[in-house]
Amino acid sequence: MKQNTVNFSYSIFENIGELSESSQQLITAARKACDLAHAPYSQFRVGAAVLLQNDTILQGANQENAAYPMCTCAEQVALYHSAMQFPEVKVNALAIHVNVNNAISHPPSPCGACRQVILEYEQKHRQDINIYISSLANEIYHFESIKALLPFYFSGDDLNV
Ligand code: THU
Repeated sequence: MKQNTVNFSYSIFENIGELSESSQQLITAARKACDLAHAPYSQFRVGAAVLLQNDTILQGANQENAAYPMCTCAEQVALYHSAMQFPEVKVNALAIHVNVNNAISHPPSPCGACRQVILEYEQKHRQDINIYISSLANEIYHFESIKALLPFYFSGDDLNV
């Protein structure tokens, strides 16, 4: 029997001022996008923003529905937004922000479905997407790729098409 271990690393920034100007702009756009959330059922307002290779920043926010399973996450709205506007332009980074009053003490991880969607755009453009997650707490986490959060991922490469 052989045993494998998967390691990943991520960075923790104590506050937004430690990041580059373009990352700060991206995170600020994700924070502002929370205002565009339609979250009357959960009151959990999530904002997201993507930075494209052509320097465009596009936003997304969660959109809920009275039929609860139909809710769409902020990350997916932002990525689909970019896929519609600039289908051939690579995605360099994605910022996610949660704006809730009882501030969760650590930045929120993207849900499993969003991880799979983020992976799809890494695969589509053959480029890793930097991910920044932040909440009302000051700390910001940075991951260089969704693969850190989705080991043993399933992708189009497994379909052999
Ligand atoms: N939500 C997101 O927008 N992104 C995630 O990664 C996790 C959850 C939204 C979906 C729903 O509108 C609300 O947060 C509560 O789950």
